[in-house]
Amino acid sequence: MPAIEIAPSILSADLTRLAEQVKEAEAAGAERIHVDVMDGRFVPNLTFGPIMVEAVRRSTKVIIEAHLMIVEPERYIPDFAKAGADIIQVHQETCPHLHRTIQQIHELGSKACVVLNPSTPLVTIEEILGDVDEVLIMTVNPGFGGQKFLETTLPKIAHLRQMLNGRGLRCDLEADGGIGPATAPALVKAGANVLVAGAAVYKAKQSVAAAIQAIRAAAQTG
Ligand code: DX5
Ligand code: ZN
Repeated sequence: MPAIEIAPSILSADLTRLAEQVKEAEAAGAERIHVDVMDGRFVPNLTFGPIMVEAVRRSTKVIIEAHLMIVEPERYIPDFAKAGADIIQVHQETCPHLHRTIQQIHELGSKACVVLNPSTPLVTIEEILGDVDEVLIMTVNPGFGGQKFLETTLPKIAHLRQMLNGRGLRCDLEADGGIGPATAPALVKAGANVLVAGAAVYKAKQSVAAAIQAIRAAAQTG
């Protein structure tokens, strides 16, 4: 199993202090910064575009992942790559030509990740597993921070880990939504090695550093 990585989501950060909040996460050892891009069409909410990725890029050297919850992501992928996204994450549900979209991301020099909603079965990505750097399993329905973790996603994560191991694939398995110290152990036990956390990092009562440490400590018991 690869080492556990934590990816704080700036969706829940205090955006009046963006650079500071990103730097706090970096100083606390966060391996990635997660940027949630929403278009009001694929998901019922609007958030950030490439200029947000650019602003985060200027604030940190940490890996940036752009989670594209948008229809027709292929239209904007070049802008996100140019803005400095190291990993571009596209939803299977938005990509009728997923293989082509993954190729497009790779040609632009970024890593490619395919994302599945809670209700989308693993069989829809079986043929693409060998071509992606990462799979992200949504553990809430995408659209908002601070939602409740869906326990039904745990067997799906375990099954995906089995599929990856069975095929000798070293791609990362990330989980996103409702993750904190209480849910991290079961996710890691199921086989996730990258954990996104928004509210648990940026809306916690303790400092960003203490919140990240709490998630990491819990994950290590998984
Ligand atoms: C949900 C987003 C998540 C969100 C996670 O649509 O994709 O990345 O920021 O937030 P929490 O950790 O608060 O569920
Ligand atoms: Zn996300």
